[in-house]
Amino acid sequence: MAETTGEGPQGGPFLNKDRIKNSPEEESRLEKQHFWRIIDAFRFYRDHVQEQVKRAEGQFLSLPQRHQNLLPDVLSNLNRISQCADHNQDILQGIIHNSLHMFENIEYGEREDPRKTRSSTTFDMDKVKSTIKQFVRDWSETGRAERDTCYKPIIQEIQRLFPSDRYDVSKVSVLIPGAGLGRLAWEIARLGYACQGNEWSFFMLFSSNFVLNRCENVNSLTLYPWIHQFSNNKKSSDQTRPIIFPDVNPQSLPLDADFSMVAGDFVEVYRDSDSWDCVATCFFIDTAHNVIEYVETIWKILKPGGVWINLGPLLYHFENMADELSVELSYEDIRTAIVNFGFHIEVERESVQTTYTENDHSMLRYIYDCVFFVARKPADLYFNGHEEENDQLRSSPPCAKSPRREGTDSLT
Ligand SMILES: C[S@@+](CC[C@H](N)C(=O)[O-])C[C@H]1O[C@@H](n2cnc3c(N)ncnc32)[C@H](O)[C@@H]1O
Repeated sequence: MAETTGEGPQGGPFLNKDRIKNSPEEESRLEKQHFWRIIDAFRFYRDHVQEQVKRAEGQFLSLPQRHQNLLPDVLSNLNRISQCADHNQDILQGIIHNSLHMFENIEYGEREDPRKTRSSTTFDMDKVKSTIKQFVRDWSETGRAERDTCYKPIIQEIQRLFPSDRYDVSKVSVLIPGAGLGRLAWEIARLGYACQGNEWSFFMLFSSNFVLNRCENVNSLTLYPWIHQFSNNKKSSDQTRPIIFPDVNPQSLPLDADFSMVAGDFVEVYRDSDSWDCVATCFFIDTAHNVIEYVETIWKILKPGGVWINLGPLLYHFENMADELSVELSYEDIRTAIVNFGFHIEVERESVQTTYTENDHSMLRYIYDCVFFVARKPADLYFNGHEEENDQLRSSPPCAKSPRREGTDSLT
């Protein structure tokens, strides 16, 4: 996996389809390199935060003594941040520990000296920090309000479109591309649907593997997600406040639940036509180099009569990144393309206000004014209105796809 990730080592011009194909050996070498780069980033976290703390201490100690005397708590607060970083590192070590052999048929070799910490880029450190914040969104009580605004509309729509009194929901297949730490997919599986999350980033895959498979004790673990935020704190203690997770036991799905996470680039993994009853994208479509490629893939993989549910903004991930293809379309333009593909837009709300990994004590808070829509691939597209169309929706079993590397990456 991670072949075309923005985090990946293959940052050549115009990734995706137009990128230069490497030999399989070269691909494998690059993938290993990428894997270890992300492990190294998790390992380097503590050193990185300690550097920041040292810098803040240095700045404080450079103040005139009379100013320092007015601020008796600053150094102890910095010391507290340092302790919180140590604690976060312990959790990250748990994540790494469970990641080294998590892909069934892929081995990434061993590090010559696993104890040695290698420095990482600011880019990778930012990814580690945002992964820590993703635990708040997906697996803490603190994130519940955010999940209610982002995930609930999607879940309610799935239940409205595929009600359990009319469907055998265990046969309704739902795909969540860009599943992050997996909570949305998990919630849908908990309701009995056959749900698969797909994710491409090792940061997310390592962390979702940890939380989904290794954290059964409710609220037994602690993270300090806000220690990296040195600005916009009302109180010093806001910076060091903890969150506990997981707010539910991720292993508490019914025994017959059909839930999986598959690693790989969405457009590369999902190529089979007419396979899914529902594709749900949450804060995902703007991760594309070319969002129309996502629309095209969703159109292709949905069964006739299947639905695409989307909620999110258009914060294009590759905008302003050198040497990366990035087509920044307005919602209006994307909507035109969706309709031109043949989708019928059945539900549309253009102003759904949500947050994303929000620090609710911060003096700076972002609100996303998201679009929400349900677009249906018409059932009569291939069947010309024959009765098969309804049977198709009700009876086809979910089609669990193989990840790019031969069915080895299933995490749960
Ligand atoms: C903004 S996050 C949203 C995560 C989750 N859906 C949520 O709402 O919390 C976008 C996610 O999509 C993933 N992603 C980006 N491009 C992807 C691709 N081509 N295939 C699969 N996942 C991708 C990223 O790694 C990231 O976890």
